[in-house]
Amino acid sequence: MEASASSSLLLVNLVLLMIAVGPPLSAAAAAVSDVRPPPETSNLTCHPTDLLALNGFRNCIELTIGNWGAPDSGCCSWSGVTCGYPGGGDGVQVRVLGLDLSGRRLKGRLCDPLAYLDRLVLLNLSGNQLGGALLPRIFRMQSLEVLDLSRNQFSGYFPVVTDMPAIRVLDVSYNLLVGQVTMTICNSSSKLVSLNMAGNAFHGEFPPNIGNCGSLQNLSLQENYLSGYLPESLFMLRNLRYLLLRGNSISGTLSNGVGNLSSLVELDISRNFFWGELPDCFASTPKLEHFFAGSNRFSGSLPYSLENSRSIKMLVLNNNTFEGGVNINCSAMPHLAVLNLGSNSLKGEIPGNLSSCRKLQSLNLSRNNISGTIPLGFRQLQELSALFLSTTRVHDLHSALQTLQHCKSLSVMILSLSFRNEQMPGEGSFLFQNLSAFAIGNSQLTGTLPVWLSGSRNLRLLDLSWNRLNGDIPQWIGDFKLIFYLALANNSFSGDIPEGLTRLPSFIDHKVSSLGPVSSIPLLLGNGNGRFLQYNQYWNLPTTLELSYNKLVGPIWPSFGNLKSLQDLFLEHNHLSGELPDSLGGMTSLEKLRLSHNELSGKIPISLSRLTFLSALDLSYNKLSGMIPTGGQFSTFRDSCFEGNDGLWGEPLLKPCRVPLKTHSPSEDHDPQTKSSDEDFMILATMAVAGGAYGFIVTVGYCFASGWATKT
Ligand SMILES: *[C@@H]1O[C@H](CO)[C@@H](O)[C@H](O)[C@H]1NC(C)=O
Ligand SMILES: *[C@@H]1O[C@H](CO)[C@@H](O)[C@H](O)[C@H]1NC(C)=O
Ligand SMILES: *[C@@H]1O[C@H](CO)[C@@H](O)[C@H](O)[C@H]1NC(C)=O
Ligand SMILES: *[C@@H]1O[C@H](CO)[C@@H](O)[C@H](O)[C@H]1NC(C)=O
Ligand SMILES: *[C@@H]1O[C@H](CO)[C@@H](O)[C@H](O)[C@H]1NC(C)=O
Ligand SMILES: *[C@@H]1O[C@H](CO)[C@@H](O)[C@H](O)[C@H]1NC(C)=O
Ligand SMILES: *[C@@H]1O[C@H](CO)[C@@H](O)[C@H](O)[C@H]1NC(C)=O
Ligand SMILES: *[C@@H]1O[C@H](CO)[C@@H](O)[C@H](O)[C@H]1NC(C)=O
Ligand SMILES: *[C@@H]1O[C@H](CO)[C@@H](O)[C@H](O)[C@H]1NC(C)=O
Ligand SMILES: *[C@@H]1O[C@H](CO)[C@@H](O)[C@H](O)[C@H]1NC(C)=O
Ligand SMILES: *[C@@H]1O[C@H](CO)[C@@H](O)[C@H](O)[C@H]1NC(C)=O
Ligand SMILES: *[C@@H]1O[C@H](CO)[C@@H](O)[C@H](O)[C@H]1NC(C)=O
Repeated sequence: MEASASSSLLLVNLVLLMIAVGPPLSAAAAAVSDVRPPPETSNLTCHPTDLLALNGFRNCIELTIGNWGAPDSGCCSWSGVTCGYPGGGDGVQVRVLGLDLSGRRLKGRLCDPLAYLDRLVLLNLSGNQLGGALLPRIFRMQSLEVLDLSRNQFSGYFPVVTDMPAIRVLDVSYNLLVGQVTMTICNSSSKLVSLNMAGNAFHGEFPPNIGNCGSLQNLSLQENYLSGYLPESLFMLRNLRYLLLRGNSISGTLSNGVGNLSSLVELDISRNFFWGELPDCFASTPKLEHFFAGSNRFSGSLPYSLENSRSIKMLVLNNNTFEGGVNINCSAMPHLAVLNLGSNSLKGEIPGNLSSCRKLQSLNLSRNNISGTIPLGFRQLQELSALFLSTTRVHDLHSALQTLQHCKSLSVMILSLSFRNEQMPGEGSFLFQNLSAFAIGNSQLTGTLPVWLSGSRNLRLLDLSWNRLNGDIPQWIGDFKLIFYLALANNSFSGDIPEGLTRLPSFIDHKVSSLGPVSSIPLLLGNGNGRFLQYNQYWNLPTTLELSYNKLVGPIWPSFGNLKSLQDLFLEHNHLSGELPDSLGGMTSLEKLRLSHNELSGKIPISLSRLTFLSALDLSYNKLSGMIPTGGQFSTFRDSCFEGNDGLWGEPLLKPCRVPLKTHSPSEDHDPQTKSSDEDFMILATMAVAGGAYGFIVTVGYCFASGWATKT
C-alpha cells in the first residue's frame, strides 16, 4: 500500500519536484501503519461479519471486482482488501482493516453493508464511476481514519457528520456534491488532518465553524461556488499547511489573520473576488513557499514582508491592480523561483535587484507600465528559463539580447509589444542555444531576420509577425529541426519562399516536435488534484506556417506536398505566382489553407478535395481558372472562398468560407479573451519550474503574449 500511494503522488511531484515540497507524505499509508501488521495476509481467515459486509457491498457494484467471491479464498486475499489485528486492547480477531478499490472503473452505489465493516481503517474508492448519494452510515464508521471517495459521480448533499471519531483524512473532491459546507465533522473528531472538498458545486458562505478543526493541515475547497468573506475562525488553525481556495467567489479583504497561520506552506486564493491591499503579515508565515493570488481585485503596493520573504518560491499575483514599483528584495528572497506580476499597474524600471534572485526560473512582468532596459545583472540569472515581458515600455532590444544570451537556461522569451519601433539587432553574434520559443511580434521592428537566430537549434516556436522586417527569408530557416510554429506574417519579407521550409521535419512528421517534452504533458494533466486539467487544450497548438501579408514572390513549391503534418498554411496577400501543385493533396493533415490575394494561376488541383481535414479554404483574388472541384470538403466551401478569380466556375454554395472547428485551435481567432484565464499562465510558470515541458510552455506563451494575441 505504501508503494502504490507514493507512486501515485509521483505525478504531482513531477511538477513540484523543483520547488522541493519534500518527500510525498501519504496519510493513508501512515494511517494503516498505525495498526499492527498482519502476520501473513493471504491465508488469514475472513471474519464472518466482514465477509457478509463485503458480499453485500459486492452486490451493489455492477462489475465483478478482481478475484472477489472466489469460493476457495477467504476475503483477506480478495484484491484491495487488507486484513489485520485491529489496534486497541481487544485485537484478537483478524478483521478487514483496509479496502482500497481505487481506480477500477467500478460502477454502482454505496450501500449499507459497506458500513458493517466496523473495524475498517481505510476506505479508498477514489477514481471510479460510483454515483448516487453519499451514504450517511459511512460517515458514522467508528474506526475509519482515511476515507477517499474522490473522483466519482457522487451527488446530493454532504452528510451532517457528527460521529466519526477517528477520521484523519477525508476526501470527497471532484464529485457532483451540492449544498452548503457545514463543518460539523470536527465536533466529534479532533484528529482531522486533511479535508478535501474541491471540485464540487458547494455554495454559500465559507463554513464559519471551521475553527473547530484545530488539527487541520490540509484544507481544499477550491473550484466550488463559495461566496462571502473568510471567517476569522479560519485564522485560528495554526496547523494549517495547505489552504487552497482558488476558483470560488470569496470576497472581502485578506485578513491580517493570515499571519497567525504560521505553518502555511501554500496559500492559493486565486480567481476569487478579494480586494484591497494585501496584509503585511508574511513575516509571520516563515514556511510559506507558494502564494497564488492571481485574478482578484487586489490593489495597492506589494507588502514589504512579501517582498522580503525568506521562504517564498512561487509568487503569482498576476491580473490584479497592484501599483507602485517592483521592490522585490532578492537579498532577502533566496528561494524565489517563479515571479508572476503580469497584468497589474506596476511602474518603474525592471529592478536590478532581481539579478540577485539566483534561483529565478520564470519572470513575468508583462502588461505593466514597466520601463527601462533589461538590467545588466540579469546575465547572472543562470536558471532563468522563461521571461515574459510583453506589453511593457521596456526598450533597447540590442542590450537586452546582449545581456540575456548569458542566461544559459533561457528557453522561452516572449517580448511582443515591447521594444517598439526599434531595429532588430542583426549584427553581433548572440547565441541563444536553449531557446525554444521566441516571440517579439507587433513591435514595429525594422531590419531583417537576424542570422544569430540560426544558432537556436532547439527553436520550436518563432513569432516575428506584425513588424516591419524586410529582406529575404533566409534558407537557414529550413535548419530548425524542431520548429512547428513559424509566424512571420505582416512584415515586408520579399523573395521566394525558401524551399527549405518544405523540409522541416516537424512539418513532415508531427512526432518530431511532440517527442519528449510535449508528450510528457498529459501526465501532468492527470495529477489528481485537478489543477492542470483545464490546460490540455493548449499544448497541441496546430503546426503552423504563416507568411501572409508580405511581399513574397515565386511559386508554391511542389514539395509542400511532403508536409504531411502541417495543419495551418497561411500565405495570403503576397505576390506568389505559378500553378497550385497537384502534390498539395499530400498535405494530409491540412485544416486551414489561405492563399488569397496572390497571383496564382491554373486550375485548382482535384487532389485538394481529398484533404479530409480541410475546414477552411480561401483561394479568392488570384488568377485561377477552370472548374472548382466538387467532392469532399469542397462541398462545404462558400463561393466567396473562390471569388476574384475570373476564370473559375462551379456551383456556388451558400456556406461559410471557414467552418468553425470545435476541436481546435487557439490561433483561430487571435482572441485572447476566449482562450484563457490568467491561471493558465501560472501553471505555465509551474511547468517552467518543473523544467522539461517546454512544448507546452511554448504553446501557451505564444497564445497570450505574442503579437497575434494582442492584435484585436
Ligand atoms: C497535504 O497536501 C500536500 C500537498 O498536496 C500533500 O503532499 C500532503 O500529503 C497532504 N497531507 C495530508 C495529511 O493529506
Ligand atoms: C486512494 O487511491 C488513489 C489511487 O491509488 C491514491 O491516489 C490516493 O492517494 C488514495 N487516497 C488516500 C487518501 O490515500
Ligand atoms: C499461513 O501460511 C503460512 C505458510 O504459507 C503458514 O506458515 C502459516 O502458519 C499460515 N497462517 C495461518 C494463520 O494459517
Ligand atoms: C458543533 O460545535 C459547535 C460549537 O463548537 C456547536 O455550535 C454546534 O452546534 C455543534 N454542531 C453539532 C451538529 O453538534
Ligand atoms: C491571531 O493570534 C493572536 C495572538 O495569538 C490573537 O490575539 C488573534 O485573535 C489571532 N487572530 C485571528 C484572526 O485569529
Ligand atoms: C537590492 O539588493 C541589495 C543587495 O544586493 C540590498 O542590500 C538592497 O536592500 C536591495 N534593495 C531592494 C530595494 O530590495
Ligand atoms: C533586503 O534584504 C536584506 C537581507 O535581508 C536586508 O539586509 C536589506 O535591508 C533589505 N533591503 C531593504 C531595502 O529592505
Ligand atoms: C506609465 O508611466 C509613465 C511615467 O512613468 C506615465 O507618464 C504614463 O502615464 C503611465 N502610463 C499608464 C498607462 O499608466
Ligand atoms: C539546454 O537544454 C538542454 C536540453 O534541451 C539541457 O540538457 C541543458 O541542460 C540546457 N542547458 C542549460 C544551461 O540549461
Ligand atoms: C500589419 O501590422 C500593422 C502594425 O504593424 C497593423 O496596423 C496592420 O493592421 C497589420 N495588417 C494586417 C493586414 O494585419
Ligand atoms: C482577470 O481577473 C478578472 C477578475 O478580476 C477576471 O474576470 C478575468 O477573467 C481575469 N482575466 C484573466 C485573463 O484571467
Ligand atoms: C505573463 O503575463 C501576461 C499578462 O498577464 C500574460 O498574458 C502571460 O500569459 C503571462 N505568462 C505566463 C507564463 O504567466
